[in-house]
Amino acid sequence: MLFWIAFVFLFTHRLFSMFFRGEAPFVPCNMKKLVEISDELELKENNILYDLGSGDARVLVACFRKQPKAKYVGFEKDIIPYLWSKLRLWRMGILKNIKIYRRDFFNEDLSKATHVFTYLGPKQMEKLEAKFEKELTRGAKLVSLKFKMPNKPNEQKKESAAKELFVYNF
Ligand SMILES: C[S@@+](CC[C@H](N)C(=O)[O-])C[C@H]1O[C@@H](n2cnc3c(N)ncnc32)[C@H](O)[C@@H]1O
Repeated sequence: MLFWIAFVFLFTHRLFSMFFRGEAPFVPCNMKKLVEISDELELKENNILYDLGSGDARVLVACFRKQPKAKYVGFEKDIIPYLWSKLRLWRMGILKNIKIYRRDFFNEDLSKATHVFTYLGPKQMEKLEAKFEKELTRGAKLVSLKFKMPNKPNEQKKESAAKELFVYNF
């Protein structure tokens, strides 16, 4: 019973946030996209990838499998995907390789990221644009699934368009 009360509370709280604050809900990206995303990010050793709204950490895991020598950080505000991602990483034995923080990414300093991945929504991309311009260091690369930033021109290649990926270089 307690479980269901907590579940309904969290679910309605999430819906409230989605509709009134324009926050992206937990909709994990399609598994088929993972290869395309990790290819587009082109991570090298010593790169640092931030997934803003990391969900169940599937993008971070896919990238880690491709480039285990880079660093991986996820920020996830919602308790359910956060705990789920930690459990998944623990079961895969890679909990110490991928750091997930239960935090709002708007309150985080992004300056250490060399690469950023987002799968959010138009309102959040609009809000993030100024933060990216202010905090991302020169040479940082952003790959966004499905949603673009309203002002910054993206370096989208034909192939990326088909994959619904928007690529930005800072
Ligand atoms: C569409 S899902 C994408 C999940 C994952 N990146 C993927 O591609 O599978 C968006 C996630 O962002 C999280 N989120 C939305 N706004 C957030 C914020 N301000 N701070 C941290 N996480 C946030 C949501 O809880 C949700 O899990």
